[in-house]
Amino acid sequence: MKKNPFKFGSVVDGPYFTNREDELEKITSYIKGENHLILISPRRFGKTSLIRKIVNESKRNYLFLDIQIVLSADDFASQLLKRIYRIYPVQKLKSYLKSFRLIPTVTINPVTGEPEISFKPGSGEFTPLEDVLNLIEKLSTDENKMIVVLDEFQDIFRIDTSLDRFLRSVMQNQKHINYIFMGSSESMIREIFEKKSSSFYRFGTLMTLGKIKKDKFRLFLEEKLGDITANNKELSEEILGISDSHPYYTQQLASTVWELLVRSGLSSDIVEAAANEIVQSHDNDYERLWNTLNRTDMTVLNGMSASDISPLSDEFSRQYGTGATSTVFSALQRLTQKGILLKEKSIYTIDDPFFKRWIVIRRSE
Ligand SMILES: Nc1ncnc2c1ncn2[C@@H]1O[C@H](COP(=O)(O)OP(=O)(O)OP(=O)(O)O)[C@@H](O)[C@H]1O
Ligand SMILES: [Mg+2]
Repeated sequence: MKKNPFKFGSVVDGPYFTNREDELEKITSYIKGENHLILISPRRFGKTSLIRKIVNESKRNYLFLDIQIVLSADDFASQLLKRIYRIYPVQKLKSYLKSFRLIPTVTINPVTGEPEISFKPGSGEFTPLEDVLNLIEKLSTDENKMIVVLDEFQDIFRIDTSLDRFLRSVMQNQKHINYIFMGSSESMIREIFEKKSSSFYRFGTLMTLGKIKKDKFRLFLEEKLGDITANNKELSEEILGISDSHPYYTQQLASTVWELLVRSGLSSDIVEAAANEIVQSHDNDYERLWNTLNRTDMTVLNGMSASDISPLSDEFSRQYGTGATSTVFSALQRLTQKGILLKEKSIYTIDDPFFKRWIVIRRSE
């Protein structure tokens, strides 16, 4: 039996990866110089997949750390050091560690073979982190500059409110590292890198990652679905009509359509059936999410799932009883902040097409 050619939820590469030619070229050439990059996109647009592909293809050494998992400044240092251990031989690192002001305990986990690193907790503010960042600079050379990718960078403030200033003070003196900062909270990332008074003001070039080009995605779907159905063109168009070229949701829907094709063969409503199956499987999550919303947010989302009228128009307000434009506007901002809405070129849409469908179904039951 043929393997499902669609993949969603984790990093994609190889045959699962499509489009992004422009971004690949631009970022690749950019990090050849002494530049730092800031990459923003909403959740699940493909930041990690894109950057992983670029750094893998660069053949350079790189460290990848998701700040979301970091618990403290000491843990930040440990996590970075752990990743350094994956690249360099222990013997080489030993001599460097001797110069650390606070010597970490390094033990090798006998099961995984991975090093476990810890600094004595509360040891001295940012000292371990500074030593580790300086170590990265020392390990880097002109010929093989290290790439350090920090994902969900806006989370540094959760670790320590002055971490940004500290990081900037160290990073600005480094010559052999390209930093790539990523984040899904556009407003917070812009705050860090674009506000004049902020610590990382103009530290690098800011880029936003959009959805995948529809033409490219259509070809990708058509080619893969073509392996098991002659109706590949119609199905691909229908899938994109529902997913609106969102990288993750398109792959999710295509994957489910594939499963249905294999399970029960082609039927005229197969894409609808797949979409409804996804809605069903997330019923609990959507219900929980719905119940975290206030009434204004619910009313706005209800209107947005039922029609394409701009939520800021009088007509929308009349039809769905959302009240004053200013009230709707704050709801839109709040929902965007939460990642429930997407804002692209000042147009708001519901991010998850299956949540949108869930609202419609629930309201019509
Ligand atoms: N270039 C691509 N081609 C095809 N599918 C893609 C591509 N990029 C992303 N996807 C789809 O989107 C999913 C999420 O990608 P990825 O994890 O890279 O996004 P992300 O922006 O890092 O997400 P998160 O916000 O969860 O960190 C992938 O599992 C895949 O289904
Ligand atoms: Mg990611």
